[in-house]
Amino acid sequence: MQEYSDNNKTSKATDNALEKLIKATKADMDEVNSLILSRTNSHVDMVPELAQYLIQSGGKRLRPMLTIACANMFTQNQKMGLKKSVYFAAAVEFMHNATLLHDDVVDESNMRRNKPAARIIWGNQASILVGDFLLGQAFLMMVETGDIEALKVLSKAATIIAEGEVFQLAKIKDINTSVKEYDLIIRSKTAALFEAATKVGAMAGGADVSSYQSLGLYGSELGRAFQLVDDALDYGGVKGVLGKNTGDDLREGKMSLPIILALKKANRSEKKLIISALGDQNCKEEILEKIIKFMQKEQILQSVIKEAEKSVIKAKDALKNLPASSLKNLLGEVADFCLLRAY
Ligand code: IPE
Ligand code: IPE
Ligand code: MG
Ligand code: MG
Repeated sequence: MQEYSDNNKTSKATDNALEKLIKATKADMDEVNSLILSRTNSHVDMVPELAQYLIQSGGKRLRPMLTIACANMFTQNQKMGLKKSVYFAAAVEFMHNATLLHDDVVDESNMRRNKPAARIIWGNQASILVGDFLLGQAFLMMVETGDIEALKVLSKAATIIAEGEVFQLAKIKDINTSVKEYDLIIRSKTAALFEAATKVGAMAGGADVSSYQSLGLYGSELGRAFQLVDDALDYGGVKGVLGKNTGDDLREGKMSLPIILALKKANRSEKKLIISALGDQNCKEEILEKIIKFMQKEQILQSVIKEAEKSVIKAKDALKNLPASSLKNLLGEVADFCLLRAY
């Protein structure tokens, strides 16, 4: 899908929103990054080796930056000493990295952040166990803030993410998976963490209930759009840009929206082709190409992006009642960035 990757004009705009967010959160993110680094320490060498290999290999840090931005929308002057937003942001990134370590084992993925996945170097067992270590450290940081309400939000997200991953696993190769079930999967495995990230950020900044609920909604819809785009890119992206292999979802038998919609549109022989490739680890590149061609003909990826657009609109709507600020405007641009990733 050339049109999903080679458009330089739009990728410039994409960089802008992310770069602006990086710039706007830099001072706090420096603290977040040192905290992250210090909390990967362990007397067992393999723990920091594996954890730092993943954490320092260039993830976007989108979720913790959102936490910081949402906190700073309300106050630039949190109490001296322990800065809750920094602790929450580090905890959110640890949760994210823990789920990625586990996810690459579950999905048998070989590449992450443009490098061999940790499981390829240290093996599946070590990846699972270090993922558990990161999750434990994430909860320790949350407890250190003493904020039970935020701890509740993040704990709930952790269980929902796991539930989403299990539900997705249960639906592997199930060609009767509905759009509604897919929606529940992505709302659980991805949107839940974005929602928690923005909500606890706002809570740390001292936002009132209605404001942190609005930012939670913003995060949730942003996360949904993000995963929809990611699922489209698995069939239409470029490996080097994505930092992970394309076509993995098909080979894993993952019932993502592109496949659900393709099955709806396919005639008998096209359906046969898709079903034979679904979950076939050795599916040849030319079969994948054929399926992608069919998706192009039926404008499947465009439909997936349209669905993402609906969430981006909802995300921006959720910002409407919040006080005017440059950070609020930036959050709107970040929502658009999610879509631009797709073109
Ligand atoms: C990857 O998330 C997992 C998905 C929800 C698709 P990101 O694309 O935010 O991953 P990193 O942290 O930047 O590598
Ligand atoms: C990302 O899910 C991991 C979680 C949200 C827990 P995917 O399996 O869809 O994403 P990638 O392609 O591995 O990043
Ligand atoms: Mg995966
Ligand atoms: Mg997965």
